Amino acid sequence: MTDLILDSPHPKKNEPTRRDFLLLTAGAVGAVGTAYFAWPFIDSMNPAADILAQSTVDVDLKPIPAGQAITVVWRGKPIFVRHRTAEEIKAAEQTPMGDLLDPATDQSRVKKGHSEWLIVVGICSHLGCIPTGNKPTQDRGKYGGWSCPCHGSLYDTSGRVRRGPAPLNLSLPPYTFLTESTIRIGVDEAAHG
Ligand code: FES
Repeated sequence: MTDLILDSPHPKKNEPTRRDFLLLTAGAVGAVGTAYFAWPFIDSMNPAADILAQSTVDVDLKPIPAGQAITVVWRGKPIFVRHRTAEEIKAAEQTPMGDLLDPATDQSRVKKGHSEWLIVVGICSHLGCIPTGNKPTQDRGKYGGWSCPCHGSLYDTSGRVRRGPAPLNLSLPPYTFLTESTIRIGVDEAAHG
């Protein structure tokens, strides 16, 4: 009997209809559904402890001989950790700014008091290939840093681009020295305190 009244094509003014009821019901289900599906999304925005742990990588520098570099993976990216020789440091420091495609002093690319260690993201700034040169036996190009096997860009011993097509220097990840022989990649000095 009530249904018949609500289904009337001419309900009295302000009288709820079945359509109103169905809309209200659908709205309530929709709200519950939204809450149910939104939670995992919102929860995923709070990184879990294991994810936070992966966001930093500690590297023991002692096994890396002068003149060589190793690659460590940080947040899915290759990070080159290079132990520079005195000659490589000198070459990087004495390069005139006018010779650089992306001018930056060597001092601005290393930590004060640790100029023998160069830490860069090992991704070519052209199209993202991984340059060679971590081992002395690999091609390092005429500037002694790294050589990109894809289109021939060359980087120097400060990771600065010296020949294109790469437009930019190898970028610098955030890192800090925990001790004289250990670095933590993923946190910068200021944040680490
Ligand atoms: S990706 Fe390195 S030169 Fe093109």
